[in-house]
Amino acid sequence: MFETPHPPGDVLTIEWRDGAVVMIDQRRLPLEEVYVTCHTFEEVAEAIRSMVIRGAPAIGVAAAMGMALAARAARGESPATFRGTLQDATKVLYETRPTAVNLKWALDEMEAVWRREDLSPGEVTEAMVTRALEIYEDDVASCRAIGAYGAALIEGEQPVILTHCNAGALATAGYGTALGVIRSVFARNPRVRVLVDETRPFLQGARLTAWELLHEGIPAELITDNMAGHFFRTGEITHVVVGADRIAANGDTANKIGTYTVAVLAREHGVPFYVAAPLSTVDLSIPDGDHIPIEERDESEVTHLAGRRVAPHGVRVRNPAFDVTPARFVTAIVTDRGVARPPYLETLARLAGGPGKEV
Ligand code: MRU
Repeated sequence: MFETPHPPGDVLTIEWRDGAVVMIDQRRLPLEEVYVTCHTFEEVAEAIRSMVIRGAPAIGVAAAMGMALAARAARGESPATFRGTLQDATKVLYETRPTAVNLKWALDEMEAVWRREDLSPGEVTEAMVTRALEIYEDDVASCRAIGAYGAALIEGEQPVILTHCNAGALATAGYGTALGVIRSVFARNPRVRVLVDETRPFLQGARLTAWELLHEGIPAELITDNMAGHFFRTGEITHVVVGADRIAANGDTANKIGTYTVAVLAREHGVPFYVAAPLSTVDLSIPDGDHIPIEERDESEVTHLAGRRVAPHGVRVRNPAFDVTPARFVTAIVTDRGVARPPYLETLARLAGGPGKEV
C-alpha cells in the first residue's frame, strides 16, 4: 500500500481509480486527510482488517473492488487456476471482519460473476469490475432511499436526534444510512440538531460523525457515551437513529458496541429508536441475534487512548466491537425498499422478497 496526496474537492470514502482502489484512511481522521491506494486484494483485506475503511456497506464495496483486483491480477491464468485464485481471495476477504454481513453479501454477488462458465477469465474480469462499480453506485442510491424513507419518520419542529458510531458517508459508498436520514431531515428542516455519541473505544462518533456533520453544517453536539442517559432524562432527545452491521430475520440488530444501551434508554424514556440499513444488511439466513458473530478486537483499543496507555499494564480486557439490540427495542427498520415495523419476521421477509413499499 502507498499513500496518495489528498485530492482536491469532496472527500471520498472509496473509489475505483485507474485499476486501483483508493480509500480515505479513516484511522487518521479528522486530524489528517490521507488517502491509501490498494493495488491488490491482499492490500484491500488489510485495509478492512486495520479499519482504514469501516462501516458495513463500505466494507462490502471494498470487498467487491478487492475481488475485481484479484481477477485483474489472475486473468492471464487458465480458467481453473483463475477460479481457484478467486476462491482463495474470497476466503481472505471474508475472514477480515466477521459481523458486518454486507461483506458476505458483496462476496456472494462477485462469486455469482466469477462462477460463470460461459465467460473466459478476461471476460469475467471485465464483468467483475462492472459489478463492483454497480455495487458502489447502488449503495449510494440505497442510502438516498433510506434517507427519504427515514426523514418521513422524524416529526416535530425541532427534532434532536441521537446517533451512535458512524453510519455516514464514510461508512458507505456515500451519503450514509443513519446520517443519510439526518442529511435528508436537515435538507427540509435546518432546525434539526444531532447529539453524537463519541463511541468508545474506536471513537467513530467523535472522529468521523462529528467531522461529517461539521463538514455539512448540520448542527451537532458531541457527547461522551455515558452522557446519553442524562440527555434522555432531561427530555432533550426526541429520536434515535443508528445503523446496523447485521439484522437477523426476526429484527434483532447488531451494531456498534453501546447501541443496545442506547436502545434500552430510549425504550425507558418513550423515545423512538430507528435502525437505518440497506437490505444487504439483513441476514434472513439466521433466525435471531444469538446467531450473529460478534467481533472481538485488540485489547489495546481499550487500554490506550490516541496511542497512549491509560490502563495499568497487566489488566485483563474485554473488547467486543458490536452488541445485539433485541428487536423488541426497535421501533422500525428503515431500509432502501421501505420501512419495516414489527413483526419483523414478516415485514423484513416481505421487503427482501421484492420491490416493496412500506409494510
Ligand atoms: O467497527 P465499525 O466502525 O465498522 O462499525 C460500524 C458500525 O457499527 C456502523 O454503525 C454500521 O456498520 C453501519 S454503517 C452504515
